[in-house]
Amino acid sequence: MSLWRIKGGSALEGSLTVQGAKNAVLPILAATILKGCETEFTNCPVLRDVEASLNILRYLGCQVERQEDVIRVDSRPMTGCSIPHELMREMRSSVIFLGAVLARCGEARLSMPGGCELGPRPIDLHLNAMEALGGRVRQEGGEIFCSAPVLRGGSIHLEMPSVGATENAMIAACAAKGETVITNAAREPEITALQGFLRTMGADIEGAGTPVIKVHSFAPADRTGYRIMPDRIAAATMLCACACAGGDVELRGIDPCHTESVTENLEAMGAKVERYSRRLRIRCRERLHGGRTVITQPYPGFPTDAQPLMMAASLKASGTTVFVENIFSERYRQAEELKRLGADIRTEGRVAIVTGVERLRGAPVLAEDLRGGASLILAGLGAEGETIVTDRGHVERGYEGLDKALNALGAQVAKYESDTDPR
Ligand code: EPZ
Repeated sequence: MSLWRIKGGSALEGSLTVQGAKNAVLPILAATILKGCETEFTNCPVLRDVEASLNILRYLGCQVERQEDVIRVDSRPMTGCSIPHELMREMRSSVIFLGAVLARCGEARLSMPGGCELGPRPIDLHLNAMEALGGRVRQEGGEIFCSAPVLRGGSIHLEMPSVGATENAMIAACAAKGETVITNAAREPEITALQGFLRTMGADIEGAGTPVIKVHSFAPADRTGYRIMPDRIAAATMLCACACAGGDVELRGIDPCHTESVTENLEAMGAKVERYSRRLRIRCRERLHGGRTVITQPYPGFPTDAQPLMMAASLKASGTTVFVENIFSERYRQAEELKRLGADIRTEGRVAIVTGVERLRGAPVLAEDLRGGASLILAGLGAEGETIVTDRGHVERGYEGLDKALNALGAQVAKYESDTDPR
């Protein structure tokens, strides 16, 4: 168990380079097994979810090595086509391996990923996509059995623009004979990143970033390399950290378009933001005021992953900020813990209403999911006294050295392992 001790009251000043994107590297690592090939990735973040993916690749028989931000995968020796429960449960999004295993082996056996802290995580859209490509799907005893001796191109319409289902469909379609058209596809930048990687593997694929993606079977490459895009949610986290603590922060290596819905909202609250081609600067010198209603939607709408972070930024803003969470049913878990710091938050179903308070006071709180845990750490930056966040590994799933990054900007965050819970 990790304890994060945050001493509030220090403004953030300085510049930092944003980590590589968790939600880009995970589907790309899965795609390495599409065909036997050697791949080298750079700008890979050090995260628990990445380690979980590397363990799955090793279990399937791939050679995997890591040196700092470089990951090398040799998927030529892959032999397995099943992923056991203990590995599937390690990472929420391990279902992303379904399309790649099915495409490589003609069959796949994965345990159901189950629900998570954010609520139910159905995978019906993933399974429908595999069936649309000729796969036969059976669910039994908590496992998914999928077989497709031959994958055939087809039309895949996603009832909702699911990120993971779009990625699984793209990956499997690369091995299908004929053209596949995916409609109502997710448009997140991580989808475009996956398309970029698949093209280096020889895939004939277009349309990522739009609702229609077309894939033709591909001429596999034997060796390829790819640089992981910057993490737009990690960037949003640092923007909101500056909103919580006050200060002047520059983020390097980020595409400002990827965080526009968040920066625009912070500007509406009174933050000053400067946008450059590959960096952002945010200044928060005065007390912010209640922003617009924050309605989470698929990209390019306001990202659900930034909702807890924006909630932290709104706690001391004058006036009221309303949140509507449309993506996950349990994404206000941080609210009860934030109220222990003195926040005024009322939640009712998908709506949360934050009424800004003058002061927050540090207290022991519990991280119950990845972004909710980050929101508690951010709120502690703007609280008087010390906040202690107890975290059973959630924050490390998605953030590489969040304590070091914040301390480099002048925060006072100490993270250490402990087996006693101070609450
Ligand atoms: C991805 O999850 C991200 N994870 C999530 O980030 C992110 O919150 C989410 O997309 C939405 O942007 C990764 O990329 C690894 P979805 P994913 O399928 O693919 C419903 C983080 O904090 N749905 O787009 O699982 C589902 O219940 C994580 O970094 C179905 O109904 O999200 C949800 O309501 C959290 N059937 C909605 O779609 C399905 O078959 C969006 O889910 C699949 C999804």
